[in-house]
Amino acid sequence: MNKKTVFVTLLVALSLTHALFLIFNKNGLYSSEQVMKRRDFSIQLSHGLKKCTDRYTFPQILDARYRTENPRINLYLNSSTKPSDMNTAIKNAFLLDRDGLATSYPIDIYLADGIIYGLAKSGSKESMRLSQEISPRKIIDTKGRYVTPGLVEAHSHVGICTQPELHGVNDMFELMSPVTPFIRTLDAFNVGDPAIKLISYGGVTSSLVLPSANVISGEGFVFKMLVPPSLSAEEMLVEYNPKEISPNFDNHRQRWMKLACGENPKKRFVSNASAPKSRMGLGFLVRDTLTRAQKLKDSQDSWCNAVEQGLPPNSLEFPESVELSLLVDLLRGKVRTNAHCYETFDIETLLRHGREFGFEITAIHHALDAYKIPKIIKEQPNNITVVTFASEWGFKKEAFQGSVFGPKILNENEIPVALHTDHPAEGGHDLVLQAQRAHNFGLPAEKAFAAVTGTSAKLLGLDNRIGYLRKGYDADVVIWDRHPLQMGASPLKVFIDGVPVLDTPIKNNKDLEYSPDSMKEVTPEMKDFQCLEGSESFIVRGITKSLVSEQPKENNEPYELVVNNGTIICFKKNCTSFYDRIVSSCDKVLELQNGYISPGGTALSSTHGLMEMPSETTTGDGDIMDFIKDGVLDDFSDPDRVLLAHDGLQFESAHLKRAHNSGVLKIITPPFRSEGKKFLTGVSTCFRSSASGLEDIIKENVALHFTVGDMGKQALLPTVSSEILMLRKLLLDNSEKKNIYGQVFRGELPLAIHANNKDVILQLIQMKKQLGDIYMIIVGGIESHLIADKLAASDIPIILSPWRCQRRFWDERRCLTGLHQTPTIIGVLKRAGVRFGIAVDDDKLVRFLFDEAGMAASRSNISDAEAVRAISTDIDNIFNVSTSNTLDFIVTEGSPVKFGSNIAAIVHSGILTNIYPELEPAFEISENM
Ligand SMILES: *[C@@H]1O[C@H](CO)[C@@H](O)[C@H](O)[C@H]1NC(C)=O
Ligand SMILES: *[C@@H]1O[C@H](CO)[C@@H](O)[C@H](O)[C@H]1NC(C)=O
Ligand SMILES: *[C@@H]1O[C@H](CO)[C@@H](O)[C@H](O)[C@H]1NC(C)=O
Ligand SMILES: *[C@@H]1O[C@H](CO)[C@@H](O)[C@H](O)[C@H]1NC(C)=O
Ligand SMILES: *[C@@H]1O[C@H](CO)[C@@H](O)[C@H](O)[C@H]1NC(C)=O
Ligand SMILES: *[C@@H]1O[C@H](CO)[C@@H](O)[C@H](O)[C@H]1NC(C)=O
Repeated sequence: MNKKTVFVTLLVALSLTHALFLIFNKNGLYSSEQVMKRRDFSIQLSHGLKKCTDRYTFPQILDARYRTENPRINLYLNSSTKPSDMNTAIKNAFLLDRDGLATSYPIDIYLADGIIYGLAKSGSKESMRLSQEISPRKIIDTKGRYVTPGLVEAHSHVGICTQPELHGVNDMFELMSPVTPFIRTLDAFNVGDPAIKLISYGGVTSSLVLPSANVISGEGFVFKMLVPPSLSAEEMLVEYNPKEISPNFDNHRQRWMKLACGENPKKRFVSNASAPKSRMGLGFLVRDTLTRAQKLKDSQDSWCNAVEQGLPPNSLEFPESVELSLLVDLLRGKVRTNAHCYETFDIETLLRHGREFGFEITAIHHALDAYKIPKIIKEQPNNITVVTFASEWGFKKEAFQGSVFGPKILNENEIPVALHTDHPAEGGHDLVLQAQRAHNFGLPAEKAFAAVTGTSAKLLGLDNRIGYLRKGYDADVVIWDRHPLQMGASPLKVFIDGVPVLDTPIKNNKDLEYSPDSMKEVTPEMKDFQCLEGSESFIVRGITKSLVSEQPKENNEPYELVVNNGTIICFKKNCTSFYDRIVSSCDKVLELQNGYISPGGTALSSTHGLMEMPSETTTGDGDIMDFIKDGVLDDFSDPDRVLLAHDGLQFESAHLKRAHNSGVLKIITPPFRSEGKKFLTGVSTCFRSSASGLEDIIKENVALHFTVGDMGKQALLPTVSSEILMLRKLLLDNSEKKNIYGQVFRGELPLAIHANNKDVILQLIQMKKQLGDIYMIIVGGIESHLIADKLAASDIPIILSPWRCQRRFWDERRCLTGLHQTPTIIGVLKRAGVRFGIAVDDDKLVRFLFDEAGMAASRSNISDAEAVRAISTDIDNIFNVSTSNTLDFIVTEGSPVKFGSNIAAIVHSGILTNIYPELEPAFEISENM
């Protein structure tokens, strides 16, 4: 049945409605009472006929080349402004569009009526013509900056999980049932979510907002990241077009569905006795629901067939269901499916369900194991996009096998790769960091950039409008401070639909030349130096910079390093005369092109050495929360019950190996307590990440850790005031005793207090003044920039954890994000003279500690060496775990705080222990994990 026939039938039907009614009802099919009860039959029929036509109506995809305006621009204007007031010329820009390679000459870009009106070589006649045509009100000279399309996020929860997180506006989880195909994120989208603006400051201009967790989770919508003055969420939809508003508008929008496999849907419904608890139960629910949708679809089709043939349909009303509408559209091929799925076997099951019911999977999201099964993914009839993370892994079983090389391997297998943040899982404003990391680990620059622009737009079906910088596309444009794949890159200016949303000044050029660089693959020649492993005496040549001190730095001439018997005997431009002093069985010399030596990182972790998968309590020391539930450990007054992390250490875990091989040589970990409230955790320990036994513990007892603020609240301490009271009491009551609280009171053991809220920290400063000798360290300190002078005056060091934040919780809502619209917290603390170190609050980032230093150095006013000290020796000094009496450092090929560098060697206690270590060394669980 073609569209024309349906259309003709519709016309005939509408004009003959009453006649048809009489014909149908001749046999008394419907009683008059029935007829009275229902709406007018003619309305029923025309509604049904429209639905019959709609079965074959697909959203119209406009060809951008013929677009002359983007009506969305009117949404942002008022009576005193008109679209042409927004006309803008962006001049002298290097254009990076999807191919990931910048133009070799500068370009001018013209924005008018909400679209990209045209692009032309700077200074060309074409550029002058475009300029005359639009008479730009604003001319921006980028001074040679990189300009890109706005980034496209393919997986976000912005707007449905407002930040800071408050129950009143957290609508991410719908727990009425594991199957909720009928829920829509548009119904919950809060235009007041401050993250929307922050995300746009990160250069992200569109986001697919998906519901969470349920096995059939519901319907997502794609929003522009700009709130119009009307405060209408609907007007934020990319597909909102004021000219198309009609009662049937929904039929012409695209639809995006979310599915979820594995651990989340399995665990989320534990409190519902009848909800499935296994993947098998989930599989049944999916089949059962889709079978019902299939039946509904069939009954719709037979209704339409009957009416079209002039026969009485099986019911007066066209068969419909709010519950199953999305799934019927899915079965009609109208819905793009996005499935949260990690494990190989979950992905296979998902594809099996699609095959059984005849629908395609558009994209597999998160998909940390997808790189292991390229064949299975490629066998599908459509090109499935894998939407993944560049660096997520480790926190739960299904994420445990994640590899930073996943995107690269998928690409080598010609599988399209997009990258996402899953905001707020990772901050939506940091989407570009995903592309940077994926590129660093081997995804080619053009694919890495496309993974957050064109490839994402394509999987959303919106690549006719967004994801590219091309004529006729929405004027979503980002001007970057440096190449977007460069460490620390951050937008200076952002436009959405031609409207400026971020507008920071463009200063003069500063090292703009950059070609994106990936880490080198370790070749057999590089491994050639392997006999040096285990040497106490060795030579390294080609060192261009030392980040241990600021030396050497004159005229870039390489230095040589000679270590004899675990001691440096020469570090100069020419150490030839020292060569024959060393005795070694390996006669190789480690030769570098652009060598750096730097201290190994020291990470403050919450799980390393204690828990392998924090969500699986069997995989290590365990979780204090389990005991708290039994009420055993809530008695803080007993100092003998304070836990010592070193008692629970377990060595040689995957986390420790990955940390070590990325240059993080020391770990400080307090006793582990899973997410949730934790006032007292216990005493941290410091050990080598390479540790295989207790002899590698550097300091058994490092600091006593408390959490004060919202995260410290728990059964006996429901308020911040009760936490402070308890803390003060514990210390004062024990001031003269030998126990752990007494040691802290007398300043013999540092007191590490995890706190972010500025006012809580003020209370702690006050408490330190009252108690005198205690040595207090603040960990977290996200709002500490607001009271930097007071911290400096009271000599309290801060471990920033993290230094770039996302305002996720109330206690950190006033943080500085590290993007361009504010100064950085590091700059503020440094100017005030506060001692600080840099840590991460998320253990998967421990292996990227040097990236954190790199971003800090490139976005704040501190040198690379200062930034590296902040993740190493400064932390050591703050926690008194310095090992300066032993020779420990790392040697990298390239700067460790820039992308594209490799760890070339690790030196521990004067011994060269690793040459070009594998980033992801094997670990024992099972071969195929
Ligand atoms: C109208 O919009 C312009 C540009 O966004 C703004 O500067 C101006 O204040 C607005 N005027 C009113 C009356 O809202
Ligand atoms: C429990 O889950 C089932 C699906 O298995 C659902 O039908 C039911 O509504 C849920 N009940 C509650 C109380 O959540
Ligand atoms: C899949 O992608 C390849 C390469 O881009 C293309 O040639 C092919 O037509 C695509 N297949 C489908 C079904 O879209
Ligand atoms: C190496 O140093 C140790 C102690 O510092 C010393 O006992 C030993 O003799 C030295 N060996 C050589 C070969 O210099
Ligand atoms: C290093 O010094 C030695 C003499 O000590 C000299 O023979 C050699 O040429 C120098 N090498 C370089 C590269 O300058
Ligand atoms: C950056 O730091 C340098 C040296 O530490 C100082 O001279 C300069 O004034 C600082 N600039 C800003 C903008 O803070």
